[in-house]
Amino acid sequence: MAYEFIQVRTEGERVGVITLNRPKQLNALSPALMVELGQALKAFEADEAIGCIVLTGSEKAFAAGADIGAMATYTFADVYGDDYITRDWETIRSIRKPVIAAVSGFALGGGCELAMMCDFIIAADNARFGQPEIKLGIIPGAGGTQRLPRAVGKSKAMDLALTGRMMNADEAERAGLVSRVVPLDKLMDEALAAALTISGMGRLAVMAAKECVNRAFEGPLADGVMFERRLFHALFATEDQKEGMDAFVAKRAPQFKHR
Ligand code: CAA
Repeated sequence: MAYEFIQVRTEGERVGVITLNRPKQLNALSPALMVELGQALKAFEADEAIGCIVLTGSEKAFAAGADIGAMATYTFADVYGDDYITRDWETIRSIRKPVIAAVSGFALGGGCELAMMCDFIIAADNARFGQPEIKLGIIPGAGGTQRLPRAVGKSKAMDLALTGRMMNADEAERAGLVSRVVPLDKLMDEALAAALTISGMGRLAVMAAKECVNRAFEGPLADGVMFERRLFHALFATEDQKEGMDAFVAKRAPQFKHR
């Protein structure tokens, strides 16, 4: 499929890569871009060969937020009634394969929110994260006020949301927003290596692990523990569990099914 605002490729057959591509606007997330992103994610989700997806931007910007030019004239009826801005943002949450955000440069506003919707974030040392919406007279609208405090705690989330300041990659790693920080020129190597590792694991176990960690992030502890237990039990019905444990006992590498 031909896309205008993103680029799509596969890497090593099992990894899907989506690159946001509106360089002149620092990858501002217009409604049209979000539609394309949703289509590309769904296509990789449906492709049996793909085990993990990497979402990235440019060196200068992962994404500088929702498109302010497009939003400037919107009324309450447009954004609430027609849900213009965030209508196509939910697709990524329905993707069951892991999505890694490889972030360099600005990840601001909706860009930070999009990165947080991914399963984990690997940051280049030039990455800068923030929720500057307050400076535009609005608040984050794609989950920022909810996911940021869960990721970095109330104090830092309040600081970022109320002052609109940016935090650099080191601060983001210390705060727990990103899983690793790497030199800019190593960002894609690191993200692709992680994606390749994940895509080599048993597909059902990967899906179950993602579901369980999201449950911890989104719901109460008791529910999450019970949910995890049920899926843990269920994985004993898979061939990958037999293979993984047999291989360990036999001191050989496992041959997972990848489906
Ligand atoms: N929307 C539309 N265009 C944007 C944009 C955005 N979010 N961010 C940057 N651009 C455009 C600029 O208008 C500029 O275009 P022109 O060359 O045509 O003038 C181009 O990208 C380059 O930007 P700058 O010249 O500003 O670059 P800079 O290096 O001086 O500054 C920046 C970079 C600090 C990221 C600055 O561009 C900036 O502050 N951008 C806005 C960030 C922001 O407020 N994001 C939140 C948006 S609201 C939101 O996301 C709502 C939500 O929760 C869903």
